[in-house]
Amino acid sequence: MGNMEWFSVGFRMICWLCFVVCVGGIGANWGTQTSHPIPPNTVVQMLKNNGFQKVKLFDADEGLLNALKKSGLEVMVGIPNDMLAVLAASTKAAQNWVSKNVSEYINDGVNIRYVAVGNEPFLQTYNGSFLQTTFPALQNVQGALTKAGLSSQVKVTIPLNADVYESSSGRPSDGDFRSDIRGLMLAIVKFLSDNAAPFTVNIYPFISLYSDPNFPVDYAFFEGNSSAVIDGTTSYTNMFDANHDTLIWALKKNGYGNLPVIVGEIGWPTDGDMNANPQYAQRFNQGFMNHILMGQGTPVRPGPIDAYLFSLIDEDEKSIQPGNFERHWGIFTYDGLPKYQLNLGTTKSGGLVRALNVQYLDKKWCVLKPSVNLDDSRIAPSVSYACANADCTSLGYNTSCGNLDAQGNISYAFNSFYQKNDQDAVACDFSNLATITEKDPTTGTCRFEIMIVADSGMSWNLPRSPICSHTPCFMEINEYLLRCKRLNKMVTMRISFKIE
Ligand SMILES: *[C@@H]1O[C@H](CO)[C@@H](O)[C@H](O)[C@H]1NC(C)=O
Ligand SMILES: *[C@@H]1O[C@H](CO)[C@@H](O)[C@H](O)[C@H]1NC(C)=O
Ligand SMILES: *[C@@H]1O[C@H](CO)[C@@H](O)[C@H](O)[C@H]1NC(C)=O
Ligand SMILES: *[C@@H]1O[C@H](CO)[C@@H](O)[C@H](O)[C@H]1NC(C)=O
Ligand SMILES: *[C@@H]1O[C@H](CO)[C@@H](O)[C@H](O)[C@H]1NC(C)=O
Repeated sequence: MGNMEWFSVGFRMICWLCFVVCVGGIGANWGTQTSHPIPPNTVVQMLKNNGFQKVKLFDADEGLLNALKKSGLEVMVGIPNDMLAVLAASTKAAQNWVSKNVSEYINDGVNIRYVAVGNEPFLQTYNGSFLQTTFPALQNVQGALTKAGLSSQVKVTIPLNADVYESSSGRPSDGDFRSDIRGLMLAIVKFLSDNAAPFTVNIYPFISLYSDPNFPVDYAFFEGNSSAVIDGTTSYTNMFDANHDTLIWALKKNGYGNLPVIVGEIGWPTDGDMNANPQYAQRFNQGFMNHILMGQGTPVRPGPIDAYLFSLIDEDEKSIQPGNFERHWGIFTYDGLPKYQLNLGTTKSGGLVRALNVQYLDKKWCVLKPSVNLDDSRIAPSVSYACANADCTSLGYNTSCGNLDAQGNISYAFNSFYQKNDQDAVACDFSNLATITEKDPTTGTCRFEIMIVADSGMSWNLPRSPICSHTPCFMEINEYLLRCKRLNKMVTMRISFKIE
């Protein structure tokens, strides 16, 4: 090794030490809205191999929490919004929840540190559905933690979207809570403060760029070359700092300037929109990591930033109502491959480490038969059926498969449906338009996926209800056969599970 190399190793070592000591580690969001989840033990190993120290879950899934036993990872468990009403109405329900989903796991060696009560419950798109229940649920869960003797070890919080605060002038120093929920927010903030609990906020420069074509692109990133937002003596050249500090000002103004803040979700998607690509995602996430690795914080909140990347793995069953990008937030693909170079400051290689020992189905794909005439009237309904029941979010303008020709497009849709149905031959028929091939149709950036072997412990969710009413009869028959097969498989799995 030459001097330079020693220097570089030494430097990496210092960075790593500083990262662990000064920052307290980086976290990841682990969502499970996937048709074929990677086995939880594999994911936990992947988290550890990548030097993540914390993980945030969206519920209290038994499979995930069992895999996290004795992993050493700090865990934030979540309460889904649809449970808030029950927990708000009954202290007993909250006690049961804490007993089953916190105490028991802690006794088994899961390092639970936070309970996330709801997930972005005050989003404007929810029309106020959770305004009445979130705070009482928070209070009941806190009460239950106290009763269980866990109140110093486990903190409550509510992951909130950054839309709970605003600044009339656009300057962070004019930040305050959204006027329609200001009273409620102040009550919550006081409660968090009284219980030494953190405020959790999700910040998404990507969404700002997605929803506003005039949003200055460079301002979403961290190179510091965007024209600045001037706020008194401070100038902001990236949206993260400005948005974060709008919250700090809102807290400060209301007497809670020292309340700890966690960045619950931050990230950038890689597909499904013209601004969602691996280049931008790399630029954003690496910029963010470099920013927090320096440990400087933001202009009005200097010091380490506690953050959870969104997200660890792509989720092919997320709702695409907000946009096609929703299924592509992972820094890893559905099968645990790194999507781009990302140095978290935690691994020896300085890169991401893939999931180990993932099991794939056979090297087979479903494609449009080359002999089929593209004018065939059965093609369009077949494609829309495949897309509605599988995943075509990588097709479209400026996406990873945006440059396919018509034939490629159709094949992509067919293959997605076929893989999602575990390569069942019935799922590659489409009125005899489709055929199975062993030749990989992948081209350039467009990956024709092969599905992984679904983790049997997690795939209990019943098949979705089919969207059959306007599809040709053959599809209903296909759907029927597939459902029967899947049900049989599930019954078999259940039985073998019981026998074990
Ligand atoms: C524990 O959490 C799971 C997953 O969110 C939930 O289904 C279950 O009802 C909870 N248990 C209790 C006793 O509330
Ligand atoms: C919210 O209200 C709008 C308009 O009234 C409606 O279209 C939408 O479905 C509602 N959303 C929810 C989650 O209730
Ligand atoms: C800012 O920096 C990025 C990355 O180096 C570059 O792609 C972009 O063109 C720069 N923008 C300006 C306005 O200089
Ligand atoms: C979008 O697609 C066009 C044409 O294929 C290409 O020139 C352009 O660079 C793409 N833009 C992005 C942001 O990928
Ligand atoms: C491929 O499919 C996408 C999405 O369905 C569509 O926008 C695009 O026009 C199609 N391209 C071709 C060449 O058919």
